[in-house]
Amino acid sequence: MSSSAVAYARQNHPRFLNELKDLLRIPSISTLPEHKADCRKAAETLLAELKRIGMEHGRMIETKGHPLVYADWLHASGKPTVLIYGHYDVQPPDPLDEWHSPPFEPTERNGNIYARGAVDDKGQVVAQVKALESLMAANHALPLNVRVLFEGEEEVGGEGIASYVASKPADLKADFALVSDTELFAPGLPTLCVGLRGMIYTELEVRGAKTDLHSGMYGGAAPNPFVSLAHIIARLKDENGHILIPGFYDDVVAPSKEELAAWRSLPFDEEEYRKAEVGSKQLVGEAGYSVLERTWARPTVDVHGILGGFVGAGAKTVIPAKATAKVSMRLVPNMTPAKAFALYKSYVEKIAPAGVDVDVRLIHSGDACLIPVDNRYIQAATRALHEVWGKDTVFIRSGGSIPIVGDFDRHLGLPSVMMGFGLPDDNLHAPNEKFNLKNFELGIQSLIRFLEEVGS
Ligand code: BES
Ligand code: MN
Ligand code: MN
Repeated sequence: MSSSAVAYARQNHPRFLNELKDLLRIPSISTLPEHKADCRKAAETLLAELKRIGMEHGRMIETKGHPLVYADWLHASGKPTVLIYGHYDVQPPDPLDEWHSPPFEPTERNGNIYARGAVDDKGQVVAQVKALESLMAANHALPLNVRVLFEGEEEVGGEGIASYVASKPADLKADFALVSDTELFAPGLPTLCVGLRGMIYTELEVRGAKTDLHSGMYGGAAPNPFVSLAHIIARLKDENGHILIPGFYDDVVAPSKEELAAWRSLPFDEEEYRKAEVGSKQLVGEAGYSVLERTWARPTVDVHGILGGFVGAGAKTVIPAKATAKVSMRLVPNMTPAKAFALYKSYVEKIAPAGVDVDVRLIHSGDACLIPVDNRYIQAATRALHEVWGKDTVFIRSGGSIPIVGDFDRHLGLPSVMMGFGLPDDNLHAPNEKFNLKNFELGIQSLIRFLEEVGS
């Protein structure tokens, strides 16, 4: 690797890491209103950084929620234009007492940096910015035209960026998108993600009596919304993991034989996954499908929380007037969020137990995506990754969702290259989130070499 930009990145790595730590100290939790100012601060930090390294037209793009950050550098005439995407918002850090070091005090331990957002997605956003800085510093120019668009609402559905992208602004005219918000299939194994699940995130609210009631006086006569909610939830999936909503699977497209064969040759040990990653006594899910199929190519239903009633220490004998559950569904190609939600809502209304009212509310949604791999950008990516990691790239899907990736294709016609450097055990959304320091370093180098390859 003779690139002078890579040499610059190597020399400046300690400073790069310090700058990542500065960003990680900002608790930019997009879902909590009390952190609104922190989200803006993270956006301002990135904007200042983009301007400092020589990106132009740097500005905030205001949305109804947290701002987008935009900057460009468009002086590589005749070269392709990349739209670089990442998100500066993070998930809430709770449960706090399970962290070994505080979530917003980035701490280095055994070759990792621990903090909320370390890998999802601040570490990867900083890797992108540092790749640009290195290219700019080494050559006083970039090898291709670059537009950068960072959002602060990915973890809450990405409404702001979705409406901005749907308006097809001239500022987003590009040839392809570079998304760094995914992971390697295994340590040291260069990986491109070529498919994501979509999702609908909903709230189910069940209401019974007009007010909370004494459970001794009314138990046996008044409907209990928690019991009704449990009945509804229990009817979403059967014991074999099969979703019971009529028509739910109608639009599901199975992966091709070739893709399934490629997945079978990935280094995956189901028992190791059960023990080391999941840590449960058994795995569950649809019979007849492998773990990778179940998590990448099959829809699923999950419950994230149930609210209401008495949850304090001790006991209170009450029949709560209402109960709410947060329920989401992961979707796969070619399901649409609108149809999935309509089927789910009418099913829930049909199975709702007697005596209660049920509201089914959509909180946010996003489409699944599947990326074509027969293009020069993917080819350039595999060449760059081979140089940095010394191995052939594996193509995987991911069970997670990045709603805007589907929109880049639909509204802007952009193929995405999803080049990310997380690891399967990085604890995304969980306590002790981390980013492997070697992956941070090689990630920056991979991004540098990729952009150089595309521009060459
Ligand atoms: N970066 C993740 C998605 C992801 C995780 C991709 C692992 C590949 C591997 C992203 O930040 C995320 O968590 N998305 C949310 C989206 C949702 C809130 C709309 C998700 O998947 O739950
Ligand atoms: Mn992410
Ligand atoms: Mn996330």
